[in-house]
Amino acid sequence: MIYRKVEKVKENISVIGIGCWNFGGDWDGSSDKNTENIIMAALDGGINFFDIAPVYGFSHSETVLGHIMKRYGFRNKILIASKCGLRWDKNRKTRNDLSRKSILWEIDQSLSRLQTDHIDIYQLHWPDHATPIEETAETLKELKKAGKIRYVGLSNYSQEEVKRFEQLMEVNSQQSLYNMLERNTSSYHNIPLEYKTEEEVLPYVKEHGQAFLPYSPLFQGLLSGKWKDKNHFSKQDIRNENPKFSEPAFSGYFETAQKLKAYADAIGHPLNEIAMNWLRQKEEVTTIIAGASNPEQMKQNLKCLEWELTPQMLKEIETIIEPYKYL
Ligand SMILES: NC(=O)c1ccc[n+]([C@@H]2O[C@H](COP(=O)([O-])OP(=O)(O)OC[C@H]3O[C@@H](n4cnc5c(N)ncnc54)[C@H](OP(=O)(O)O)[C@@H]3O)[C@@H](O)[C@H]2O)c1
Repeated sequence: MIYRKVEKVKENISVIGIGCWNFGGDWDGSSDKNTENIIMAALDGGINFFDIAPVYGFSHSETVLGHIMKRYGFRNKILIASKCGLRWDKNRKTRNDLSRKSILWEIDQSLSRLQTDHIDIYQLHWPDHATPIEETAETLKELKKAGKIRYVGLSNYSQEEVKRFEQLMEVNSQQSLYNMLERNTSSYHNIPLEYKTEEEVLPYVKEHGQAFLPYSPLFQGLLSGKWKDKNHFSKQDIRNENPKFSEPAFSGYFETAQKLKAYADAIGHPLNEIAMNWLRQKEEVTTIIAGASNPEQMKQNLKCLEWELTPQMLKEIETIIEPYKYL
């Protein structure tokens, strides 16, 4: 494993992290035994960074990680980056809420599910424009003082808002959508994004010494190179809700992924490793929070650490992905 260090986080962070969304079964379903095997493969590979959220599996992801962490006793060997601000009702309809009352409730729920007394990086999952950021920042300061959280991260925020937030308290990390084909993209599922990752977030994190966590590094699987067509999700899979996987958007993305796959075959490396290494060669990237549906995928993604993209390869890749630079 390779570890990276940024000014605003004391610990060294593994450049490959683990995204725990699909532990909760929102994707194609995942048994807890499968989750346990994924986690063991991650720990074996030297991963020390776990990105998770209460809403993943509507609390199940945190619960299962809590059980497995307790059973194997690795809590103090990892950094847990959980989140707050996305609440859901009995019909699982979500809403943004970063009010003091809600955060104070959410943190105790997360700590109890994770069976720990603190969360290392507590991230605001999405902005909540109905709550003044002063109220949210004051609440996070209280949590820090109480020792319930150590660092604060913002996820999916515009850089103007990050700047405003930093006038109230230190921001240690940022998380945004970023992969070879979603570099400055303007939407995630049906949500408009208030930031351009490559153009705005990357320069900001670099200048401010923040950890940067790109999410969906494999474009939810499209950049694994295994897709034959668009119809491979089961009915329950949340990726059905991503409009980029339906027409009119899908064909362009799929054709480009096919071109990248042909390039990957030509240079003799799998596309998933190319996609991971394309992110890894960016100095701003602290940890790539990659999701895996089984332990084999986790191991396959870790194999990217065995080689690096050369400047020539980067140039050739750029000619393929250039049309997506500002998409
Ligand atoms: N802050 C936010 O708003 C936000 C939003 C989204 C995600 N995230 C975080 O980012 C993490 C990762 O993002 P993501 O899960 O959206 O996307 P991702 O990491 O781009 O894709 C993960 C999926 O790609 C496929 N895959 C992974 N490795 C593979 C391999 N070696 N070979 C073949 N297929 C492979 C698997 O899907 P199959 O089931 O098809 O095999 C896997 O579940 C999440 O777990 C979460 O922690 C955060």
